[in-house]
Amino acid sequence: MTVDVDVLRAEIQKTYTQVSTAPQDEFMFPTGRAWARTLGYPAELEAVPEATVESFAGVANPFALGRIEEGAVVLDLGCGAGTDLLIAAQMAGPRGRAVGVDMTPSMLERARASAAEMGLGNVELHESLIESLPVADASIDVVISNGVIDLVPDKDAVFDEIGRVLRPGGRLQVADVVIHTEVSEDARDRIDLWTG
Ligand SMILES: C[S@@+](CC[C@H](N)C(=O)[O-])C[C@H]1O[C@@H](n2cnc3c(N)ncnc32)[C@H](O)[C@@H]1O
Repeated sequence: MTVDVDVLRAEIQKTYTQVSTAPQDEFMFPTGRAWARTLGYPAELEAVPEATVESFAGVANPFALGRIEEGAVVLDLGCGAGTDLLIAAQMAGPRGRAVGVDMTPSMLERARASAAEMGLGNVELHESLIESLPVADASIDVVISNGVIDLVPDKDAVFDEIGRVLRPGGRLQVADVVIHTEVSEDARDRIDLWTG
């Protein structure tokens, strides 16, 4: 892998800072509430404030793989502005907890403001890389993630971390982009293909 990871992270942050500060702009990927509804999101989507959902940039619906049980501890890898996180927090309820991790501060600000607006006391947010999680071993019941792992070159580090933080019997519900053919070296080095 010859892509410069620091340059790649900076470009990804630039793109998703724009998604969180100027969500009305045109992007190379779909965003917003209409897109989430098209993906068949559960009813809890409607309680999530526009300030979060207008910056939704997921690729599919991780709750199609199952609802979060009441009382569960959920970790959202790359939670962005918090659409999935705040849906998970509603499903987990006050006896559960929803923990969001993202590296883009303006995304986390939106998630934090919306959690406060919804009066959710069971939401925790961390500014961090998902390759190195600020989460204790075996402390998570369900890991969710939407459109994030495809942006990370070192996927082994992410899956090692998922294995470390999940409790025995815990589960992973990922929505992401999967490519079924080998990606050429040239394409791997093109940062615009990673961020778009
Ligand atoms: C396509 S957006 C998806 C956001 C959210 N999951 C959603 O569905 O709206 C990708 C998010 O992943 C975050 N991200 C990308 N690479 C990351 C990394 N290595 N560590 C932490 N966050 C990362 C970006 O900051 C951005 O908020």
